[in-house]
Amino acid sequence: MAKKIIVVGASSGIGKEIASQLIEEGHQVAAFARREKELKKLPSSKVKNLFVKHDVTEYSKVPGEFAKAVKALGGLDEIYYASGVMHRVGAEEFSVEKDLEMLEVNLLGCVAWLNSAATYFQEKKAGKIIGISSIAGDRGRRGNPVYNASKAGMSTYLEALRNRLAVKGIQVVTVKPGMIETPMTEGLSGLMWLITAKEAAQVILAKVNAGKENFYVPARWALVSLIIRLIPSFIFRKLSV
Ligand SMILES: NC(=O)c1ccc[n+]([C@@H]2O[C@H](COP(=O)([O-])OP(=O)(O)OC[C@H]3O[C@@H](n4cnc5c(N)ncnc54)[C@H](OP(=O)(O)O)[C@@H]3O)[C@@H](O)[C@H]2O)c1
Repeated sequence: MAKKIIVVGASSGIGKEIASQLIEEGHQVAAFARREKELKKLPSSKVKNLFVKHDVTEYSKVPGEFAKAVKALGGLDEIYYASGVMHRVGAEEFSVEKDLEMLEVNLLGCVAWLNSAATYFQEKKAGKIIGISSIAGDRGRRGNPVYNASKAGMSTYLEALRNRLAVKGIQVVTVKPGMIETPMTEGLSGLMWLITAKEAAQVILAKVNAGKENFYVPARWALVSLIIRLIPSFIFRKLSV
């Protein structure tokens, strides 16, 4: 049966592939991002999809945008939050400007959108909330402290939402990708086990449909995370990871 779905951050990378695959499966999608031109390149289908220009850091506009999308779709079954920023940060750089943007898009925008969804779904006693977090939130690494912190915050927020909403029949999903080939990782060195955004979206949609709530993409990153989380802090700080 066709579902009604919001995808935030659907103009590029993982979010774009999630939105594309959902549209191709016949679902009705409301796609949000700042680059409306990119949203309009999403596949067309028989049902009317919505392409909405939106900046997630305009938090006060989120409840209104959420309500408008739900009204236009005629309800809502699922929401995906895929907006994210990972600035390149130098080894000795502490840029407040870059760091605040990462917190605003990765964490605060996520809270603004998913709180609106939680309010709607708890009333309906059904629904799915999916956040694209990252393995990067599992440990504080020297390379990009605030990107790590934003993803740790996002993962903790999603876990708390899950604990609150499970009793109401709502599935809250934390997705932790490893390394995915998207504009975000373009030009980075040392990438391993890279998969395409299309492959990542296929895995994510299959696992969400199978009822999974917390998983790595691809799954082998779960083992890496386990090892990384077990390393004591005094050793971890000596590693160049
Ligand atoms: N690629 C990886 O290896 C990887 C690994 C782990 C986790 N992730 C996470 O996966 C998510 C998607 O990343 P990606 O790799 O697909 O990156 P991407 O291709 O750069 O896509 C980022 C998306 O976020 C949107 N976005 C950024 N700032 C926004 C804002 N202010 N308002 C609204 N939307 C905004 C962009 O849309 P506009 O620019 O059009 O607004 C775009 O649709 C991110 O949260 C990222 O942290 C990625």
